[in-house]
Amino acid sequence: MKLSVVILAAGKGSRMKSAMPKVLHKIADKPMLEHVIASAQALRADQIFVVYGHGGDEVKNSLTAYPEIRYVEQKEQLGTGHAVLQALPHIADADRVLVLYGDVPLTPLPTLRGLLEDYPENGLSFLTAVADDPSNYGRVIRNIRNQVMAIVEQIDASPAQLAIREVNSGILYASAASLKHWLGKADSNNAQGEIYLTDCIRIASDEALPVHAVIASEEWQVAGVNNRAQQAALERVYQTNLARSLMDEGVGLIDPARIDIRGSLKAGIDTTIDVNCVFGGRVEIGKDCYIGANCVIRDSVIGDHVVIKPNTVIEQAALGNDCTVGPFARLRPGTELLGDSHIGNFVEVKKSIIGKRSKVNHLSYVGDTEVGDRVNIGAGTITCNYDGANKHQTIIEDDVFVGSNSQLIAPVRIGAGATIGAGSTVCTDVNPQKLVLSRVRQREINDWKRPAKRDPVIVNGRV
Ligand code: UD1
Ligand code: CA
Repeated sequence: MKLSVVILAAGKGSRMKSAMPKVLHKIADKPMLEHVIASAQALRADQIFVVYGHGGDEVKNSLTAYPEIRYVEQKEQLGTGHAVLQALPHIADADRVLVLYGDVPLTPLPTLRGLLEDYPENGLSFLTAVADDPSNYGRVIRNIRNQVMAIVEQIDASPAQLAIREVNSGILYASAASLKHWLGKADSNNAQGEIYLTDCIRIASDEALPVHAVIASEEWQVAGVNNRAQQAALERVYQTNLARSLMDEGVGLIDPARIDIRGSLKAGIDTTIDVNCVFGGRVEIGKDCYIGANCVIRDSVIGDHVVIKPNTVIEQAALGNDCTVGPFARLRPGTELLGDSHIGNFVEVKKSIIGKRSKVNHLSYVGDTEVGDRVNIGAGTITCNYDGANKHQTIIEDDVFVGSNSQLIAPVRIGAGATIGAGSTVCTDVNPQKLVLSRVRQREINDWKRPAKRDPVIVNGRV
């Protein structure tokens, strides 16, 4: 039997007050709709339908990485049941259908699996939660034997029903044949004049078919995003969950409320992450590292025993064991630090390899460069890699010493063990072991007087 997942994403989301369709708003830098698609994929859905309405082209254009998705247009938003009805003609009667919501992004996989497992033959299972504040959700109505009878929307509910704290998530699982049958019977006799998906629950119950409510263990699992405050609240939930699992793996977080992981972060035991760090893309950090406050790290791999001092920005870089970087350093794409190298404050490195035990400690730019082992690059050194049209390579062999405030004009090679005198401009290759001085010889000018301010000339009383 096949699983079809139908993701409802046609609503406008007016309460977001945004030009962008609601389901494209992000949690952890990923559109909510993609979180939901990822869940559908993890459940090994045979088909995934996205029901779109408002901003359809924008929704489709944002999902080019998922060619397997099938799109169904809901021209008018006549309710959640009506939305599911748009997809049902494309689904075989024997298929099972899981309805997910594009604006309910964080339902954990084990919870969804539990819903699928709890399916009663010919009936339906649906997901609920007990909410501190149930307002705006549909309430779950049970009889004295605790069987679910119906869902009543807030706007249609009596005062007694409004007091019920068990709420409908909207997420539901049944066979396509059953949904076709129930939604065929549903009408729009309700306060909103819509076809409610939730009517399936009342109709199934009236037909004495089994209806199983699966209660999620926490409310956030089923929480939807209707406005930006709810989006921010779910972002925090998501981050808190990731922070918790990092700590469970032996990673120290100085304040788990002040870390942001927008992608995936793996870190080894005894690594400590100080406050306000932001991780993007895929980041892997080894064991026993220290990441200082306010670092931004994206798509990078960091070895063991590495110290990243505060306010460092690292993107698409690979750092070997025992390196020290920062504070205020910037490692741009293509940076590779071999073991035990040091990058200090206000140093920018791009598309360069820095060899073992080499140091670039202060105020330098190193771009398109291969630096050997045990090299010392003095303060204010610049590799002049760009001639206005093309980039050129600099090669600095092992054991070179580059004095402060030197410019290395690429393409250029500094041979092993050479010394560049401070303040030099190096434009031709340097042989190994040589000392290079390219600065002008210092002179002293005798009888020189510093210019003095002239007395103002006054004409007709004016300067
Ligand atoms: C719905 C449920 C409510 C539940 C709540 C959980 C119904 C009638 N009510 O209410 O019981 O507690 O979700 O969040 O089902 N959508 C469409 N087409 C439409 C209408 C909605 O695609 O015509 C989509 C929306 O984009 C959204 C989802 O369905 O992703 C839910 O719609 P929304 O209007 O937010 O429903 P609620 O009033 O929150
Ligand atoms: Ca909603």
